[in-house]
Order: sequence, then structure tokens, then C-alpha cells
Amino acid sequence: MASQSPFPGAFPATRLRRMRKDDFSRRLMRETVLTADDLIYPMFVLEGEAQRQQVPSMPGIERLSIDGIMREAEELLRLGIPAIALFPVVPPEAKSLDASEAWNPEGLVQNTVAAIKSEFPELGVITDVALDPYTSHGQDGIIDNEGYVLNDETTAALVRQALSHAEAGADVVAPSDMMDGRIGAIRNALEGASHRHTRILSYAAKYASSFYGPFRDAVGSATALGKADKKTYQMDPANSDEALREVALDLKEGADMVMIKPGMPYLDIVHRVKQQFGVPTFVYQVSGEYAMLMAAAENGWLDEQAVVLESLTAIKRAGADGILTYFARRAAEWLQAES
Ligand code: PBG
Repeated sequence: MASQSPFPGAFPATRLRRMRKDDFSRRLMRETVLTADDLIYPMFVLEGEAQRQQVPSMPGIERLSIDGIMREAEELLRLGIPAIALFPVVPPEAKSLDASEAWNPEGLVQNTVAAIKSEFPELGVITDVALDPYTSHGQDGIIDNEGYVLNDETTAALVRQALSHAEAGADVVAPSDMMDGRIGAIRNALEGASHRHTRILSYAAKYASSFYGPFRDAVGSATALGKADKKTYQMDPANSDEALREVALDLKEGADMVMIKPGMPYLDIVHRVKQQFGVPTFVYQVSGEYAMLMAAAENGWLDEQAVVLESLTAIKRAGADGILTYFARRAAEWLQAES
């Protein structure tokens, strides 16, 4: 790494601007190169057929029914994007206190996974393991009378959900709930059911962030959640050592990959995690980050392509092996046009 190389001699023997003068030498010394291989595209799935809805707080992002998802999947493959992440938009009547729709073998996510894997087996499919789209109160778990999210009861439900995703053909299950011990429980259950190849992407360090607002609008959990927050399970944005403990535990329990979330405001965490563990490390550039960049771009205050590619490169430079981003599709198009 650059910090370990000897310091340069004094001016004028060393002029760092020499190497910056031309495109050829800038390219030769570039340390981080963003490609489509680094990108995961999140998609919002709707019930029904031929349904598409704009997400108002996320310009350029739509909720799509399965037929639309299939058309999009084909395009993503053509662009060289390795994987997608699915998030269901669950109708209010399917939500409940016990979130049982989450493990319905004929549920929206399960059906979408099966459809994609039968038509596009080479596209990696990542499913979100968390109960918030399915609970009537919008929390990521089963609650007691005081509204406290119960850890072990929730984990048992997450195990059922993860198994149903694996059964439907999901390549990667991604628990984004932050319950203690859920990675071990899910890994055990997957091994027990001979799902040996199912990868676990653990949202190991997920912060109780205010940057998730547009996502909660997109999946329709914002209304249910109301003024409540998720601070009893998601991490305090003030903490960094705690993130390393979370990652260490999840790896020990059987995570194949870890996720840091959100992205840009948390790149110090990404750097520490990658330095310390050297494992496949992913970053979620979340809905609020997308909304901020798009709002500025739509006002003509920032150049969308330039600023998005810069943000993704910066995330990779910090240590990310891959980035879950709503810009994945557009970024892959820009990268393809450049090459
Ligand atoms: C919930 C979940 C959230 C996101 C992904 N999964 C929101 C939350 O924790 O409330 C947010 C993603 C984004 O903001 O783009 N399990």
C-alpha cells in the first residue's frame, strides 16, 4: 500500500505532478478500478403483473412486479452485474404480529427467486432476511407487550425465513436484522437441511441510521414504524470498536461475507473491518445516500455520473469488495460506455 512505500525525495527531484500530467500515466498508477463486477443491484418486488411504481424519494428507482424484474434481470446480466438483492413490497393485509408471511413457500420473494433462477441461473440472487416488511409494526422482529424486539423468538422466525429462501433457490441469504446469534442459528439450519452452498452475507455492522428513510417508503414499512426507532438492535452511529466485535462474532458463527451499512458516512468502519479480518467485505450505499446524490444532481448542483462513480470508487478504495447500490445499473452502463 502507498503508506508503506518509501517517502519521495525532495523537490525538484520529486514532482508528484509529473505522473498526473497525462491520462496514460494516471491510468498506469491508478490503485483502485471500479468495474461492474463490484456491483450488486437492489430491487423492490411488487405483487401482481405488469405493475410498476416510481419511488418518489428515489428518482430513477421503481417497484416492479415479477415480469418487470425478469426483464430487468436480463439487462443486468448483459451489463455484467454479478448479483441482485431482492426486497419485497408486502401488502398491508399480509402483515402480522408474527410475520408468518415471511416464510410462505409461495410468498412474493420465494416466487421471485424461483422465477429468476429458472430463467437466469447465472445471476446471483441475494435475499433479505429480516421481518420488517412482514410485521404490522414495522420492526425487524417479534415484539413483547412493551414493543421490545425479542431476540431469540425473532431468530427462530429468521431461521424459517432463511430456509424458505434457500429452498426457493436463493444463492445468498442476507440477514439484515441485527439479532444476536442469528448467523449461527441460520448456518446450522442450512447445514442441517443440506443447503451447503447457500452463502450468508451478514449485515454485521448495521447502524441505526437516519439514512434509511427512502427505503422504508419504498417497501412501505415507514407508516407501520411511525416514530419508533431500531436503536435496541441496530448499532449506535457513534461506535467503531463494537463493529469489529459484531464482525468477529458473525464470522465465527459462519458468515461468508460481511456487510457494513450505510456506506459513505461509515468508510472508517469499512477500512478497519477489511484491515482486521481480510474477509469478503461489502458496503450498502443506502437509500438516503442515493436520495441525496440524486436530489443534488436533479437540481444541477452536482454532475450525476461523475459524483456517483467517485462515490463508488471511494467506497472500494476504503476496502469494499463489492457495493450494494441503487446506482448499480446506471454505473454499469457508464462503465460499459467508457470501455
Ligand atoms: C430492514 C432493511 C432496511 C434497509 C435494508 N433492509 C431498513 C431498516 O433497517 O429500517 C435499508 C436500505 C436502504 O436504506 O437502502 N431490514
